[in-house]
Amino acid sequence: MYASLRLIALTLTIFLWLFTADSEVRCIESEGHALLTFKQHLIDPSNRLASWAAADLDCCHWFGVVCHNRTGHVHQLHLRSFFPDDAQWEAQFQAYERSRFGGSSYYNNLYVMNLQWLSALPLLQHLDLCSANLSKASDWLQEISKLPSLSELRLSYCDLSGFFPPMHSINFSSLTTLDLSSNSFENTSFLFWVFGLHYLVSLDLSYNQFQGPIPVHLQNLTSLRHLDLSGNTFNSSLPAWLYTFSHLEFLNLGNCNLQGTISSSIGNITSATCIDLSYNELEAKVPRSLGNLCNLREIKLSGNKWSPEIPEIFKSLSGCPIPWSIGYLSSLRSLYLESNQINGTLPPSFGQLSKLECLNIKSNILEGVVSEVHFTNSMRLTTLFASQNQLTLEVRNNWIPPFQLNFLILRSWNLGPRFPSWLLSQKRLKYLDISNTRVSDAVPPLFWNLSSQFGYLNLSHNQIYGEIPNIPMILSTSSMIDMSSNHFNGSLPCISSNVSFLDLSDNLLSGSISHFLCYKMNESKQMSYLNFGKNFLLGEIIGCWMRWQNLFALNLGNNNLSGSIPTSAGSLIYLQSLHLYNNKFSGKLPSSLKNCKNLVTLDIGKNEFVGSIPSWIGLRFSSLVILSLHSNNFSGYIPKNLCSLTSLQILDLSNNKLFGSIPRCVNNFNAMATNKNSNGPLFLFEQPIGLALSMLLDSALLVIKGKFLEYSTTLQLVKSIDLSKNNLSGKIPKEVTSLQGLQSLNLSFNILKGRIPDNIVVMGSLESIDFSMNLLSGQIP
Ligand SMILES: *[C@@H]1O[C@H](CO)[C@@H](O)[C@H](O)[C@H]1NC(C)=O
Ligand SMILES: *[C@@H]1O[C@H](CO)[C@@H](O)[C@H](O)[C@H]1NC(C)=O
Ligand SMILES: *[C@@H]1O[C@H](CO)[C@@H](O)[C@H](O)[C@H]1NC(C)=O
Ligand SMILES: *[C@@H]1O[C@H](CO)[C@@H](O)[C@H](O)[C@H]1NC(C)=O
Ligand SMILES: *[C@@H]1O[C@H](CO)[C@@H](O)[C@H](O)[C@H]1NC(C)=O
Ligand SMILES: *[C@@H]1O[C@H](CO)[C@@H](O)[C@H](O)[C@H]1NC(C)=O
Ligand SMILES: *[C@@H]1O[C@H](CO)[C@@H](O)[C@H](O)[C@H]1NC(C)=O
Ligand SMILES: *[C@@H]1O[C@H](CO)[C@@H](O)[C@H](O)[C@H]1NC(C)=O
Ligand SMILES: *[C@@H]1O[C@H](CO)[C@@H](O)[C@H](O)[C@H]1NC(C)=O
Ligand SMILES: *[C@@H]1O[C@H](CO)[C@@H](O)[C@H](O)[C@H]1NC(C)=O
Ligand SMILES: *[C@@H]1O[C@H](CO)[C@@H](O)[C@H](O)[C@H]1NC(C)=O
Ligand SMILES: *[C@@H]1O[C@H](CO)[C@@H](O)[C@H](O)[C@H]1NC(C)=O
Repeated sequence: MYASLRLIALTLTIFLWLFTADSEVRCIESEGHALLTFKQHLIDPSNRLASWAAADLDCCHWFGVVCHNRTGHVHQLHLRSFFPDDAQWEAQFQAYERSRFGGSSYYNNLYVMNLQWLSALPLLQHLDLCSANLSKASDWLQEISKLPSLSELRLSYCDLSGFFPPMHSINFSSLTTLDLSSNSFENTSFLFWVFGLHYLVSLDLSYNQFQGPIPVHLQNLTSLRHLDLSGNTFNSSLPAWLYTFSHLEFLNLGNCNLQGTISSSIGNITSATCIDLSYNELEAKVPRSLGNLCNLREIKLSGNKWSPEIPEIFKSLSGCPIPWSIGYLSSLRSLYLESNQINGTLPPSFGQLSKLECLNIKSNILEGVVSEVHFTNSMRLTTLFASQNQLTLEVRNNWIPPFQLNFLILRSWNLGPRFPSWLLSQKRLKYLDISNTRVSDAVPPLFWNLSSQFGYLNLSHNQIYGEIPNIPMILSTSSMIDMSSNHFNGSLPCISSNVSFLDLSDNLLSGSISHFLCYKMNESKQMSYLNFGKNFLLGEIIGCWMRWQNLFALNLGNNNLSGSIPTSAGSLIYLQSLHLYNNKFSGKLPSSLKNCKNLVTLDIGKNEFVGSIPSWIGLRFSSLVILSLHSNNFSGYIPKNLCSLTSLQILDLSNNKLFGSIPRCVNNFNAMATNKNSNGPLFLFEQPIGLALSMLLDSALLVIKGKFLEYSTTLQLVKSIDLSKNNLSGKIPKEVTSLQGLQSLNLSFNILKGRIPDNIVVMGSLESIDFSMNLLSGQIP
């Protein structure tokens, strides 16, 4: 999708250039006025249509407008939003970045109120309003259908839904391309006007909310060359009429909840070059007749219920009359078999797929040895996703592969014990995951030279040792580096400001953290996830936090860090997760921390903090789910304001010097009062991101979700209050018994008096309760 955006942008540029080169043609005045009327009826916050001005009525020069080169009539309107970025995958990560902070501003930056103005542009042939918000323009279909010459209509991401007055006079006689993808249509009977478009060549209905069977009326659209119905919940099997579409080149039925089997008639669609049936519930065998599809360049069968061996699939795919010596499947460029139950070994004939660029066999149950033979003719391979199998790579140490990869994921293979030095030959790698591959070696120094090009590097869960050099030259923005759970030693490396995710936890890193924080202070840091937990870092963490404003998760736990939390930590206004657990931090919590009002987790237990628990914790941190202050030297009363933390699920103030009584307002802890589990911190990351984000982005998000899952799995399990080992006095407030979701309550080692509240017996979720070592009296209820 991003590629096509760029293509359109490029096309537009060329159109504009072509037109400007031809100075003879001028805009038809009435059409210029129509466009100005239109402009009045839309909201354009980013002022993209600044060039549309009465002062210069030559509308053929306006942004997004293309006139016919001889008549001057407006022929094309391209008003979709563009991504500014060049590289496709950077766009994705940036989209992710933006969406993370709720500013999904990359679409919907035009709000269109109505489309009546269109009728003044009768010769319009191409209309592209993708990403303009048409939710208010209820007349859209009516108005657009009045354009007799329209051949291409693109309304993707327009926030359209199917609610419209019934209408029978829709006459799009020249429409050949229709894109309604990524809207909210639900009812396929809304499509009645589409069923009559017999000349349609390209139809995209993907990522709506269509339900029920694939509408049978689509069977008349036999001119279709491009059909995309992916991302809907069609509850049906693959319809037989589809196999009669003799012009079909591109077919995407991925993610459609389709059931049943693939009929051998699929071999009748001989014009097909690209078929996507991934992520359905399709069963049984991949039919042999697929092999008739000799033009097939890309086939995606991921995420179904197939369990053949690869040679069987190759056999199915290799019916073409091309002798073995040239390599069968000779046109295949992409093969996606991810997430099935394909077993057996990877056959050496794989190496004959000389055109193959992209192979995804992730998450199957392949086993055995992969050797150089498997890549004999893999000259064109650029993408290899093969993680989650039980494969072992055995190649010579000085192997120079025939390919230059961009993306390589071998997670959980057996690559060790030596570091796979053939990687040094891969000059174009952007994405590398060799985590958990039994490598127990030092990294060859030249490997770090490659790192400048990485957008994603995962070396985690190995036994890699040695020092990490500074990696300042990361060229891609928002790159991610995970080298956790290894034996890296020495001091923290300095890191490029472009890195947005860095996990060096669970290593042998030592020394201070200041040089890391203050490196290139003039650059603002993209870092949003920083994990140095479980190392041997020491010293203070003073200074330079002002530059780290993008942080949303910071883990410095399990080190030897000391000193107080610096005031500048208050600049971390997006911070959601702060872990300083098990260090030697001391002093009071600085009041600047109250700016971090997005905190969900505050975990500063096992340190030497002093002073009273600040009341602003209760007032400011309204999203807090975990508050862990245990094993410090906090003193004074438990502030009543803490009771405002209605999302709190874990409150651990144990082992401090708190005194006074337990506040009676504890019944305000709403999250603890119910049995329902919140989604915890996870919830906060689930912002609408748009549907077309690629696998890369998905995996990035999954990672982040995964990280939070670590905490949230505990969250799902535990709702607890631990106030033990303090000097709390007075009675146990009976309000505590309204916390029906509480699983664990520990008030031991205090000087509480009086009776245990009777109602305690109705606290249905309690699994553990400890009131020991107090001055309680009376009966145990
Ligand atoms: C006008 O555009 C048509 C195609 O749209 C092209 O064939 C023709 O050469 C163009 N004429 C000029 C003068 O650019
Ligand atoms: C489109 O605009 C309407 C208000 O006009 C708004 O409620 C809706 O959320 C917008 N849609 C999107 C996807 O932003
Ligand atoms: C549809 O439009 C075409 C071309 O403008 C015209 O010939 C035809 O009569 C129209 N049909 C209807 C039903 O309006
Ligand atoms: C779809 O729309 C048709 C016609 O308006 C209606 O009869 C039908 O019940 C709708 N189906 C669903 C599932 O809403
Ligand atoms: C589909 O085609 C058949 C036969 O050509 C015709 O009877 C039927 O009305 C058509 N359906 C639609 C929805 O156009
Ligand atoms: C599919 O639709 C049928 C009939 O509407 C229904 O009985 C069946 O449960 C549905 N299956 C799924 C998986 O939704
Ligand atoms: C596919 O082609 C075969 C042989 O030409 C034919 O017998 C079969 O009916 C076709 N299938 C469909 C669904 O048209
Ligand atoms: C693969 O799985 C099939 C069926 O599950 C089984 O019959 C076959 O023996 C397996 N092959 C290997 C090599 O394990
Ligand atoms: C790195 O790989 C490990 C598994 O080997 C995974 O758990 C972790 O989430 C990955 N890190 C990133 C940043 O993707
Ligand atoms: C690798 O990087 C180091 C340090 O940046 C540099 O001195 C060395 O020349 C580089 N080597 C190559 C082959 O690029
Ligand atoms: C960060 O990324 C940008 C854009 O890719 C690049 O221009 C810049 O040089 C990079 N900065 C560093 C320090 O690598
Ligand atoms: C790091 O470990 C290597 C051996 O694995 C050792 O030679 C080196 O001195 C260590 N460096 C530091 C700074 O501890």
